[in-house]
Amino acid sequence: MTATSTAVESVLTFDDVSMTFDDGTETLRDISFDVGPGEFVTVVGPSGCGKSTLLRIASGLERQSAGSVDVDRKDLGYVFQDATLLQWRTVRRNIALLAELEGLSRSERERRVAENVALVGLDGFAEKYPRQLSGGMRMRASLARSLVMDPAIFLFDEPFGALDEITRERLNDELLSLFQRNGFGALFITHSISEAVFLSTRVLVMSARPGRIVGSYDVPFSYPRAPELRFEPSFAELCGEVSTSLRSASTSKEDR
Ligand SMILES: Nc1ncnc2c1ncn2[C@@H]1O[C@H](COP(=O)(O)OP(=O)(O)O)[C@@H](O)[C@H]1O
Ligand SMILES: [Mg+2]
Repeated sequence: MTATSTAVESVLTFDDVSMTFDDGTETLRDISFDVGPGEFVTVVGPSGCGKSTLLRIASGLERQSAGSVDVDRKDLGYVFQDATLLQWRTVRRNIALLAELEGLSRSERERRVAENVALVGLDGFAEKYPRQLSGGMRMRASLARSLVMDPAIFLFDEPFGALDEITRERLNDELLSLFQRNGFGALFITHSISEAVFLSTRVLVMSARPGRIVGSYDVPFSYPRAPELRFEPSFAELCGEVSTSLRSASTSKEDR
C-alpha cells in the first residue's frame, strides 16, 4: 500500500472545492471527501446549501471556482430529482437512450435494456409512455437508463423526494439490491435522514450556505440491509445523531 492508494482507488474525489457563482453567491466552501468503489456516501443538508451544485460540479455540468475534482466522467451515472424522461419515447426507448448515444450495437442495446427493465421491476411496462407510469415507475425507468451503462459512480439528486413514504422505502430496498449487485460507488443527496442512514456506508452533513461539510458519520450496518433495520434502536440512535448535527448546521448564522 502506498500513501496515495486511497486517492488512486476512489471513484470520486473532491479536494478543497469551493464555488462562488458569477453573481457573487458563495455556495460551497472547501469541500473535501472521496467515494471509494462500492461506497455509498450520502449528503444531507438544509435546502439551498449547495447540494445540487455539488452534484453538478461532480458531473461536469458546472465548473468549480477553486479546488479540484477527480472522477471519470465517461463512467458516471446521474439520476435527477425528476425522472427527466422523454415523453415521446416509450419506457424501453427511454432506457435505451444513453446506450444509443454511446453507439452500442443494436443487439447489445437490446440485451442491456431487457436486463435492466427486469432489474428495476418494469416488466410489462416497456412499451408504455412516461405519462402512463406512476411517479415511482418513472424513477425506476430513470434509474434503468443509467444502469444500462453500468457506471462506476452514480450521482443521485433527491431521486425519491417527491414519492410517498412507502414507495420511497420500497425503492430504497431495491436500490440497495442494485448497489450490491453492480458494486457502483454512489453519491446520494436527500433531505431524509432515515433514508440517508438506511442506504449509506457514510453520511456527510452540510452546513447552510456556503455549504461546508460539518459532520461525517460511518454507518456500521452490514449489507444486505433488511427493511426492519429501520425499526432497530441502533438505527434510531444514529438517525438522532445525524439529526442533531443537521439541526445545528441549519441554524448556523455564519455569513448571513
Ligand atoms: N447559476 C447560479 N447562479 C447563482 N446562484 C446559484 C446558481 N445556481 C444555484 N445558485 C444558488 O446556490 C445556492 C445553492 O443551490 P442548490 O445547489 O440548488 O442548493 P440545494 O440543492 O442544497 O437546495 C442557492 O442559494 C442558489 O440560489
Ligand atoms: Mg437541490
